[in-house]
Amino acid sequence: MNHKSDDIVEILITQEAIQRRIVEMGREIAAAYQDCLPLLVGVLKGCVLFMSDLVKEVEIPLQMDFIAVMSYGGVHRASGAARITKDLDCVIEGRDVLLVEGIIDTGMTAGYLLRNLEARQPRSIRVCTLLDKEARRIVRIPIAFRGFNIPDRFVVGYGLDFRQLYRNLPYIGVLSDEITGLNRN
Ligand code: IMP
Ligand code: MG
Repeated sequence: MNHKSDDIVEILITQEAIQRRIVEMGREIAAAYQDCLPLLVGVLKGCVLFMSDLVKEVEIPLQMDFIAVMSYGGVHRASGAARITKDLDCVIEGRDVLLVEGIIDTGMTAGYLLRNLEARQPRSIRVCTLLDKEARRIVRIPIAFRGFNIPDRFVVGYGLDFRQLYRNLPYIGVLSDEITGLNRN
């Protein structure tokens, strides 16, 4: 069901390619965490489709939790400041945490989350992202598990939105400039 929205100028990653890569990532994650009980922390809401498909391919016991964060735009953005709008339900002290993101762009959000979660003293914390827009990186983020490197284009689908729309597309597509205009966030 690769339904193509008229607002999408190009399908960058098909549903099939996403699913194939997720099987590989699931195996890598299972191998890395086979001797412990990892806690996968999904960053809402972009992670939702990715996380739900990913965990089915991680064939070891694991636990899941979610966190939601709002990054500040405009002049405050450069500071990397953000606000947690939904915190974790569980304590992560001593846990092996895997932060699961839909996309890492400038790295500001992941950087903020890593600092915040590290302060809670997990035993380990690593990052997994479906998409990596490395060309835009400002904050260095060590990525342990990466789905795809993508070029500097605004993408939607498979959980990623523009103004809360397009999250339900089963593929990653490039959104038309006519829709995004200059204000992409
Ligand atoms: P950051 O720049 O790495 O902090 O990314 C901030 C957030 O912007 C991400 O978690 C996404 O929610 C969003 N974002 C960045 N690039 C894109 C994109 O190409 N499409 C949709 N959302 C994006
Ligand atoms: Mg968004």
